[in-house]
Amino acid sequence: APAAEPVVYGQSDRPPRGDYSRAAADYTCPQNYAAYTAADHDTYRRLYERQAALLPGLASDEFIAALPSLGVKDHIPRFEEINERLYRATRWEIVAVPGLIPEVPFFTLLANRKFPVTDWLRTPEEFDYIVEPDVFHDLFGHVPLLFNPVFADYVQRYGQGGLKAHALGACELLSRLYWYTIEFGLIRQSDGLRAYGAGILSSAGELQYAVRSEEPHRIPLALERTMRTRYKIDTYQQTYFVIDSFQQLFDMTAPDFAPVYERVKGLPELAADALLSNDERQRWATKPT
Ligand code: PHE
Ligand code: FE
Repeated sequence: APAAEPVVYGQSDRPPRGDYSRAAADYTCPQNYAAYTAADHDTYRRLYERQAALLPGLASDEFIAALPSLGVKDHIPRFEEINERLYRATRWEIVAVPGLIPEVPFFTLLANRKFPVTDWLRTPEEFDYIVEPDVFHDLFGHVPLLFNPVFADYVQRYGQGGLKAHALGACELLSRLYWYTIEFGLIRQSDGLRAYGAGILSSAGELQYAVRSEEPHRIPLALERTMRTRYKIDTYQQTYFVIDSFQQLFDMTAPDFAPVYERVKGLPELAADALLSNDERQRWATKPT
């Protein structure tokens, strides 16, 4: 299931689910480890087991290589244990939050190489589908690639770029880049298409759909095309944007976005399922390169 992400805080008509009275001014809180029940640990174990079994042939090699860095699989890990390894690997840390947080605190944490991880877990009724991020989505989906140096630097740059976008009134445009890369990105490996986006990797249904289905559009990531494209938060994506490598993603997003935002603001938005005559629609899923 797709998980809503922090940039869309406040977009939903429901109040956020976490207890924000626990949070400090920067929205972080201690991981409430004592609150996890035996049933929570079991749900996490079952989510992890199902998802890990699906990864070969569908998840990017970098993700599969990094997943064991999360440590324990049979219960919810303690964030401090992950941090011992993560900080040594890329100088990133994870911090607990009660759920979705507003844009500026979110960008600020990322810019400081702190990744906010929701500490509560979905209920067993939400095993297959949850619309907002929980500890499984955030840990399993996002944290492994923070062990990858190039991707880790990209996420920090995104946070810095977010603070700048906020000042320029361009958060919506930038959030589409987050959505179509960090949440729903696909990567072309030498042996075919794979997923690297957390929203795909933490969803059993969308992992197979995003990589294998004939239905969605798959087009090369391009800044303006991606920033113009709206997205759906409660269905599988109708369009996925594809990169060739994390280095390509890093290099493509390195230039100053101020002129890019100006151009994109003058262009019409595109529907989530739009296909333009000059889009190179890719069919790598069924025809590996
Ligand atoms: N280069 C972008 C800017 O100038 C910042 C950015 C980097 C945004 C990487 C997203 C990802 O605003
Ligand atoms: Fe997410």
